[in-house]
Amino acid sequence: MPTFDLKLKNGTVWTPGGPVHADIGVRNGKIAGIGITGDADEVIDCTGLDILPGVIDTQVHFREPGLEHKEDLETGSRAAVMGGVTSIFEMPNTKPNTDSVDRVTDKLGRALHRMWCDHAFYVGATSANADQLHELERLPGTAGVKIFMGASTGDLLVSEDKELARVLRNGKRRVAIHAEDEARMQERLHHRVAGDASSHPVWRDDESALLATKRILGIARETGRRIHILHVTTPEELELISHHKDIATCEVTPQHLTLRGEEAYPRLGTLAQMNPPIRSGKHVDGLWFWLNQGVPDVIGSDHAPHTLEEKSKAYPDSPSGMPGVQTLLPLMLNHVVQGRMTMERLIDLTSAGAQRIFGLVGKGRIVVGYDADFTIVDRHKKWTVTKDWLGSRCGWSPFEDMDLTGKALGTIIRGHRVMWDDQLANQAFGEPLKFESTSFS
Ligand code: DOR
Repeated sequence: MPTFDLKLKNGTVWTPGGPVHADIGVRNGKIAGIGITGDADEVIDCTGLDILPGVIDTQVHFREPGLEHKEDLETGSRAAVMGGVTSIFEMPNTKPNTDSVDRVTDKLGRALHRMWCDHAFYVGATSANADQLHELERLPGTAGVKIFMGASTGDLLVSEDKELARVLRNGKRRVAIHAEDEARMQERLHHRVAGDASSHPVWRDDESALLATKRILGIARETGRRIHILHVTTPEELELISHHKDIATCEVTPQHLTLRGEEAYPRLGTLAQMNPPIRSGKHVDGLWFWLNQGVPDVIGSDHAPHTLEEKSKAYPDSPSGMPGVQTLLPLMLNHVVQGRMTMERLIDLTSAGAQRIFGLVGKGRIVVGYDADFTIVDRHKKWTVTKDWLGSRCGWSPFEDMDLTGKALGTIIRGHRVMWDDQLANQAFGEPLKFESTSFS
C-alpha cells in the first residue's frame, strides 16, 4: 500500500520557517510529512512552482439566500478556488439577513459539499438579536459577529454608541466591524453628485471612516471586547489601530491597495463604487506604508458582486461593491513581483494571519497535522485577466484587461485537487471551518 494518498513533488514549500525545497506527503486530508520519501496514489509534479498555505479570504458576500441573481454559494466559491482561495468567511447581509440560529443552519446546509471551498458564516448584529449574540457566535460554522456601523448594501445597521456597547458586551469572540460613521454620512448626503461616482469618497469621506474607527476602539476598550476592523481605507486609521493592537486587528483589501481614485473613477465609473470608497493615490501609498509596518493582519477581498445591469444605474442609484475573491491572490502576487512586499508578508496576510487572529483550527500554515490545504502558484506566469476566466455569476471584474505576473495554478483542499490549470474538479468538497473558540463546547 502506498505511504501517502497524495504527494506534492519538487516544489518550493512555504513553511512557517521559510521556503524549503521539499516533497509533501498527504494522508487522510492532512499534511503527513514535509521533506519525505515514499510513494503515493497521486503524485503532482510541482517543479518550478511555489506551494503556499491555502489562501483564506476572510470577507466575501456570496448573496445566497435571496440575491442569487448576483451570486450564490456555488458560483462564489467556484470563483474562490479558481483564484487559489481555499477557505472563506461569508458576510450576513443576504436576504434574509443571517441573524438567527435558523438562518445560520440554513446557510450551512446549503453550503455543505456544494461550495467548492471551506467556509464559515458571519452572524449580523441587530438591536433585536443583541442579547442572543453570545449564543449565536458559538454555533459551529460561524465566523463570529459582524457589525455594520454605517449603512451599506442591505439593512443591517447598528450605529449608536449605546447599541454598539450592548452588542460588544454580549459575547467573547472577535467582532468584525464595518467602520463608517452613519450620522456623519447622513449629514453629508448632499456631497453626492448625480451621475458622478467620483463624488462617492467625497460623501463617505476619510473622517467618516476615522470617526467610526475611533468610536468603536473606545467602545471595545470600555467593554473589554476584541474587534477586527474590516477594509481600512485611510493611513490615519492604520496609525490609530497600531496603538490598540491589544484589542484590535484589521484588514486591507487588494482593491484599496491597487485602485487610485484619480484614475479609477474616470475609467470604471460606478464599477469602482464600493463602501468604504476607493480613495486617492495618496491613500494607496499610505496603506502600503502601514502594510509594510506590519499593522494590517489580513487581506480580505470584500467580494461584493452586483450585476452589470445594476451597476449601470446612474450614481448614486448604483449599488456599492465589486467582485474580488478570484483576483485577490493574483493581484497581490503581482504586487510582490513589483517589489511592494515580500512573499513572506503575502503569506502572513493571506493565510497565517487569519489563523492567528480568528483561531482557525488546522488551517493557514504548512505544518504536519494541519489540513492539506495548498495554493500552488506559478510566480512567473505572465497573463491577462479576461472575462472568460471569471467564475462569479456577476461576470465582470474591475481588473479585466490588467496584465499580471503570478497566478494560482492549483487549489488543493484537505487533499482534494479542486482546481488545476483553470479546470475545476468534478465534485465540490466544501466543509465548515472549525474555530478554537467553538470546537470544544
Ligand atoms: O461596497 C460594499 N458592498 N461594501 C459593503 O460593505 C457591502 C458590500 C455589498 O454587500 O454589496
